Formats: sequence, structure tokens, C-alpha cells
Amino acid sequence: MSKSTWNISKAPSQKGKIAIVTGANAGLGFETALALAEKGAKVIMACRNQTKAEKAKAAILQKVPNGDLEIMEIDLSKLASVRSFANAFLNKYDALHLLINNAGIMIPPYQKTEDGFELQMAANYFGHFLLTGLLLDKVMKTPESRVVSLSSIAHKNGAIHFDNLHWEKDYSKMKAYEQSKLACLIFAFELQRRLKKAGSSTISVAAHPGISNTELSKHVPKLMYFLIRPLAGLYIHKPKKGALPTLMAALGTEVKGGDYYGPTGNKSETKGPPGLARSKSKARNEELANRLWSVSEELTGVKIL
Ligand SMILES: NC(=O)c1ccc[n+]([C@@H]2O[C@H](COP(=O)([O-])OP(=O)(O)OC[C@H]3O[C@@H](n4cnc5c(N)ncnc54)[C@H](OP(=O)(O)O)[C@@H]3O)[C@@H](O)[C@H]2O)c1
Repeated sequence: MSKSTWNISKAPSQKGKIAIVTGANAGLGFETALALAEKGAKVIMACRNQTKAEKAKAAILQKVPNGDLEIMEIDLSKLASVRSFANAFLNKYDALHLLINNAGIMIPPYQKTEDGFELQMAANYFGHFLLTGLLLDKVMKTPESRVVSLSSIAHKNGAIHFDNLHWEKDYSKMKAYEQSKLACLIFAFELQRRLKKAGSSTISVAAHPGISNTELSKHVPKLMYFLIRPLAGLYIHKPKKGALPTLMAALGTEVKGGDYYGPTGNKSETKGPPGLARSKSKARNEELANRLWSVSEELTGVKIL
């Protein structure tokens, strides 16, 4: 963990740039979209719930009246929806400078998606794998472009259960979340290795917010809240702060491909100013990454690099 004093005022203007933020209607995605709009980027708010997205867009426009925002519909837990979003985007836009793979869910009751995936793996990982695969040509043709993937401290306890990827037996909602967030981090690092091998100037960077009070915790039992409340201020920060590692990964001028950003304010990396974060070695294991990549290509039907 290295301390940093990075803040959004250090980010250059994003005028003329196009960014997609998945899950931009709430929590960290909302703060990310707001900051990008303030910096002058055209922001595509990639959201599944159009009513919530319209409300979020109006809230951003109140703060940034000349913000350039467009809502486009996507449900990342459905491959067909990801494909139709990508088609609509590719038909309309000639460039993509920032793809921010932010949307996510945590510890819902077990649910299998229409594609046969467990819901957390579908929305957090497979949907973003497919989205990135479908948009990558456009991203690679755009100068100074980046793909940012959201992981979590939870990746540290994660494992990829290749024999039970869809949790058809012994569903543990936490293990499924940990698996999905480890998969996101493995993806970010492997994408960077492949981009480099291809000689591309596009970079892939990862980020995690530490712990931030957002709607992500809607499936956490109320009793748990009550128990952790007295200590919350010590370990939890607001979404505006939680979004800073993502924004640093997306906009920081010192950022290199394969970097991983998170809060640096305490040992457990739950809050504080953004800087380089620690990851478990399994996240950079190339054998594991290649195996996950092949499975992901097969299950989503997209080949990436
Ligand atoms: N908050 C934390 O402490 C924390 C910690 C570690 C990592 N993270 C990561 O940070 C990211 C953002 O989370 P957050 O805390 O901002 O949570 P949040 O407030 O619940 O926001 C999540 C966003 O993702 C969207 N989303 C969920 N499933 C989707 C789907 N199938 N298709 C399209 N959009 C979908 C949500 O849309 P709806 O509003 O329609 O549900 C919402 O816009 C996630 O990847 C999460 O894993 C958060």
C-alpha cells in the first residue's frame, strides 16, 4: 500500500472524450458518472432500470447543468441485453475512451439467469467480460483509452470454483460474491497482459472502493448493520470517496496498465485517499487467468485478443 494525495482536481479535462459507466444510476457508479461529467466527458450511463437512471441523470444535471449524459439500457446479467447495448453503442459512436465496468450486486438469494449463470457471476463478471469483448476493437482504436474493472477487498478470500462455477450445489452467497470479484481482478490483469502482447496503447486498470455505504448492502441482514454501526465511521467512507480509486484508475496521469487502485487510509484498505492497492497473488496467476479466460470465452461466445 502506498499513500497518495491524488484527488479529482488533479485529473485533466475530459472534454471530447466518451466514457461508459455501467451501473451509473447509484452508489459509486453515480459518483463516477458525476465526476466524469464535471470533467467534461460525454458519459453514457449504462443502466438496467430506466426510471432510476432518469432520476440519476437529472440529479447529475442539477450539479452539472451543461453535463453531456446519455442513458443506454443494459442488463449485465443477460448476454442478449449486453449484445444489444453494444450494438446500439457501436452503431452510434466512433470512439470509446473509458469503459468503466462498475455495476455489481452482492449476496442476493440464489438465482440462475436465463443464460444458466449464477446471478452474481453473471452481472459482476460474465456480463462485463462480454461487454468488454464486444467494445474492445473500438476502445483499441481510440487513443489514450482505458478499461477499468471494479474488484473488492472480498477478492482476497475468493477462489474460482471451476467445478461449480454456477453454484448449482452448495450455494454460498458470500463465496459466490468473492469468486465474482476475484474473476473481475483476474480479468483486469489478464486483459492488460493481452493488450500489451498485441502492442496496443489501451490499458486495463483495476480498482476497489474499500467499503462504502451504497445500495450494494441491500441484502445484508439488518441485525448485522445494527452490530457494526458503532464502528462504521472507522472503516466506511462515503460513495464520493469510494469512487476515487475508480476515478484515479480512469483519469490519473501516473497510472500504468495492470495497476490496481484502492483506499490507502488504513491497513485493511477500507477507506482513505486513493493509491496503489494490494492484491492476492492468485489474481495475477497467469495459468488461472488463461483457464478462466477460455471458460469465459466459451460461455459468453466472445473471443478477446
Ligand atoms: N460499496 C462497497 O463497499 C463496495 C466494496 C467493494 C466493491 N464494490 C463494487 O463497486 C461496484 C459498485 O457498487 P456500489 O457499491 O456502487 O453498489 P450499488 O449502489 O448497489 O450500485 C450498483 C449499480 O450496479 C447496477 N446493477 C446491478 N446489477 C445490474 C445488472 N444486472 N445490470 C445492470 N446494472 C446492474 C445497479 O443498478 P440498479 O440500481 O438497477 O440495481 C446500480 O446502478 C460493484 O461492482 C461492487 O462490487 C463496492
